[in-house]
Amino acid sequence: MKKIIINGGVKLSGIVDIDGSKNSIVALIPASILCRDRVRIYNYPKISDVLVLCDILKELNVSVLLTDNYIEIDSSNIKYTSLINEKMEKLRASYYFMGVLLALFNEVEITYPGGCNFGPRPIDLHLEGFKALNCEVRGENDILFIKSPKLIGNRIKLDFASVGATINLMFASIFIEGYTIIENAAKEPEIVDIAHFLNKMGAKIEGAGSESIKITGVKRLKGTEHTVIPDRIEAGTYLLIASAIGEEIELRNVYPSHLHTVLKTLEVIGVNIIKEKYSLLVNKVDKIFPINITTAVYPGFPTDLQQIITSLMTQAEGTSFITEKIYSSRFRNCEELIKMGANIIIKHPTAIINGPTPLKGTIVEASDLRGGASLILAGLIAENQTIINKAEHIFRGYGNIINKLTNIGAKLSVEES
Ligand code: EPU
Repeated sequence: MKKIIINGGVKLSGIVDIDGSKNSIVALIPASILCRDRVRIYNYPKISDVLVLCDILKELNVSVLLTDNYIEIDSSNIKYTSLINEKMEKLRASYYFMGVLLALFNEVEITYPGGCNFGPRPIDLHLEGFKALNCEVRGENDILFIKSPKLIGNRIKLDFASVGATINLMFASIFIEGYTIIENAAKEPEIVDIAHFLNKMGAKIEGAGSESIKITGVKRLKGTEHTVIPDRIEAGTYLLIASAIGEEIELRNVYPSHLHTVLKTLEVIGVNIIKEKYSLLVNKVDKIFPINITTAVYPGFPTDLQQIITSLMTQAEGTSFITEKIYSSRFRNCEELIKMGANIIIKHPTAIINGPTPLKGTIVEASDLRGGASLILAGLIAENQTIINKAEHIFRGYGNIINKLTNIGAKLSVEES
C-alpha cells in the first residue's frame, strides 16, 4: 500500500507536460493484438494500468517491449488462452479483451473486470451487443464465457452511449463479413483515437465521434505506429489544481478542443486561461465563483472530473451544485473532504458545497482514482499536513504525478505503508 504525504498551502507555478490519454491507451493495448503483427505506440502514460495490461498480453504469448518513449507489441505468435486470473480484476479495461478475442478466435473465457469501486458498473450493454453479433454469453462465478460459431454483423442500438461498449463492439466487428452499425455510440475523443488506430492497421471504420459508427469487415490487419492523444482528464485535473492554488501554470501537450466544456465551466468560476494550439496558460485566480453543473457524456462536463472540481468548489464564495448523472454514487471522496473541513451535503445525485471553507490537513483515504486526485487537490489547498492512504489508486491513472507536482513547487512525497 502507498501513502502520499502533502504539506499544503504552497502556491504553485511552472510547466506541466500532459501525458497520453489513459482511457485511450487501455483500449489501444488490447486492440494492438488484432493485427497479429508489430505495433509501436508513442506518448503512452506511465501508469500502473498499462503495466497490468502488458502483463495480460504475455499470457496470450504476445511480446511487449516498454521503453521510455514507446511500447512495442508483437502479436505474430499470439495463442488463444482463457483469461481467468486476478489481473483482470485489477482494472476495468480488461473487458476490452472480450471484443478483441472474439474478433480473433470467436471465443473468450474471462474473469469479470474490476476497476474503481464507485457503485454499480454493469457490462450488460457489451454482452447484449455481443449477442446481437451472434454470440452465446454465459456467466458463472465471476467468469464469463462468450462464444460464436460465426460472428454476424448487425445494427446495434445502445440504450446508453457507453464508452466501453462502443469500443468493445468496434473490436468484435473488425473482421465480420459485410458491415456492423453501432447506433447511439459514445462520442468521446478516445473513441476517435482508437478508430483512427484501427484504421491505420487497415480496418474500415467510419463515423467515430458521431452517434453512428459503421464497421465494414476486413480480412486482416497489419502493424502500424501510433501516438496517443493527450489525456483530457489529466489536463483537466491540473487545470483545477492551477485554478485553486496556481500563480501561473502552463499545461503543454493538450488539445484545448477536447476540454471545451471544462474551459467554459472554469470561465464561469472566474479562471482566466490563455489558449494556444496545444497548450493552456492558467493565470492566478482572485475569487472563485460557485457553479451549478451536471456531468454528461462527451462533450458534456466529464464525470471523471466531478470529484476533483468538488475540492475546488470548497473554496468558492457561495453554494455550488454538482450533479452526477453517469455514476450516481461517485461521491465517496466527499466524506474525506468533510473530515478536512469542507461543508458538503449529498442529496443524490447532487453534491451541495457551501464555500468557502478553509481546509485542514488530516489522514484521509483514496477510495478510487479520481476520488484520490480530489484529495490531492484538497491536500494542496489545506494549511498543514495531509496523508492520503490507499494512494495506489492514484498511480493507476496519473503518470509521474509526484514529480509533476514537485516540479511546480508542491511539497509532497510518496511512501510505502
Ligand atoms: N453502463 C451500463 N451498462 C453497460 C455499460 C455501461 O449500464 O454495459 C452504464 C454505467 O454503469 C455508467 C454509464 O453507463 O452509468 C457509463 O459507462 P461507460 O460504459 O460509458 O463507462 P466505462 O466504459 O465503464 C469509461 C472510462 C471511465 C469513465 C467512463 C465515462 C475506461 C477504462 N473507463 O468507463 O473512466 O468514467 O468511460 O466517461 O475508459 C476514470 O478514468 O476514472 C474512469 C472511471
